[in-house]
Amino acid sequence: NIVPVILAGGSGTRLWPLSRKSYPKQFVPLLGEETLFRQAVRRLSGEADGLHFERPVILTATDFRFIVMEQLGLEGIEPGGVLIEPAARNTAPAILAAALHLMASDPEAIMLVAPSDHVVPDAPAFQAAVAQGIEAVRNGDLVTFGIQPTHAETGYGYLELAAKPDADGTPVKLARFVEKPDAERAGAMLAAGNYMWNAGIFLFAVKDLIAAFERHAPSLVGPVRGAVEQAQTDLDFLRLAPGAWEEVEDISIDYAIMERASNLSVVPYGSGWSDLGGWDAVWRHSDADENGVALSGSANALDCRDTLLRSDSEGLTVVGLGLSNIVAIAMNDAVLIADKSRTQDVKDVVDLLKQKQ
Ligand code: GDD
Ligand code: MG
Repeated sequence: NIVPVILAGGSGTRLWPLSRKSYPKQFVPLLGEETLFRQAVRRLSGEADGLHFERPVILTATDFRFIVMEQLGLEGIEPGGVLIEPAARNTAPAILAAALHLMASDPEAIMLVAPSDHVVPDAPAFQAAVAQGIEAVRNGDLVTFGIQPTHAETGYGYLELAAKPDADGTPVKLARFVEKPDAERAGAMLAAGNYMWNAGIFLFAVKDLIAAFERHAPSLVGPVRGAVEQAQTDLDFLRLAPGAWEEVEDISIDYAIMERASNLSVVPYGSGWSDLGGWDAVWRHSDADENGVALSGSANALDCRDTLLRSDSEGLTVVGLGLSNIVAIAMNDAVLIADKSRTQDVKDVVDLLKQKQ
């Protein structure tokens, strides 16, 4: 049995103006009708490949708690717990809090940590990959999922494989984990050929993960344990104690644990994955026509190429004429028009708007 632990606390500023501070990208219909959060919880529910997914534990911020409950309700899924972080401290404390929470009821639990903002189109293939990872977890390893890299991306973690993977998807030992290298190192790892991208999805035995924190990031354990032990129940939610959480360092699981641990394995995954890190990625995953034009809402295009046009405002028609490599996103109260090569910089636009407020 596996407990899904779903990270739903991020703010997704690179997908402004669709993704908002009070309603970030995982909770809005970004591709198709359904939100990525709903797809994520559904992907990790029920039975598959001899696996049984328990009720999910959701980690989120106080502002999103009712959105989480509403969207779980639409999927007919009861949570196993909704943990509220008093402040965002990145993924390491959040994941450790979930592990300590689960440890209290089941010391043998296995958790699958998954972001709620990724696109993983083939749910059965993904569940089969999770089943493959169980064996490595039983041998005491911390398991990640690896994606074949296509370019020298600097926004991902890199997994150095200790051996060549078999075609059947069995786990491979990791020689090393390198989080977010600079462009030069990313290029070298891409050229070397024995590296994969870290998908940011992890499979752990709860007790092994806690042991890894005690060894590699011991200063987090006391404060996070305090926040879990003093947590307060509020309606459907479990609020981690703010006083103890104050003391918690802001650090990601990749830096706190994955770069430091040596008991790591990877399950290679080749059935489609994207973290939709910007509008260019959304364009790539949309149903574009033969000219690369992707339209959604009441948007139209004439003589355009490689362009994404989107109107999320009812009754507002957006028309592109003769555009090439443009992203235009129209909402009721804001419109973004950007060169598609610059969509990673949308977060700077959000900062600019904040300063002007
Ligand atoms: N609950 C909660 N609390 N969730 C959080 C927090 C937090 O404080 N911070 C981030 N998250 C969520 C994000 O919403 C996202 O779903 C996930 O945790 C990962 O955080 P990101 O900030 O998106 O990480 P990243 O994309 O820069 O890097 C990670 O993912 C890459 C793949 O997408 C790393 O694991 C990389 O190694 C990996 O390649
Ligand atoms: Mg991400």
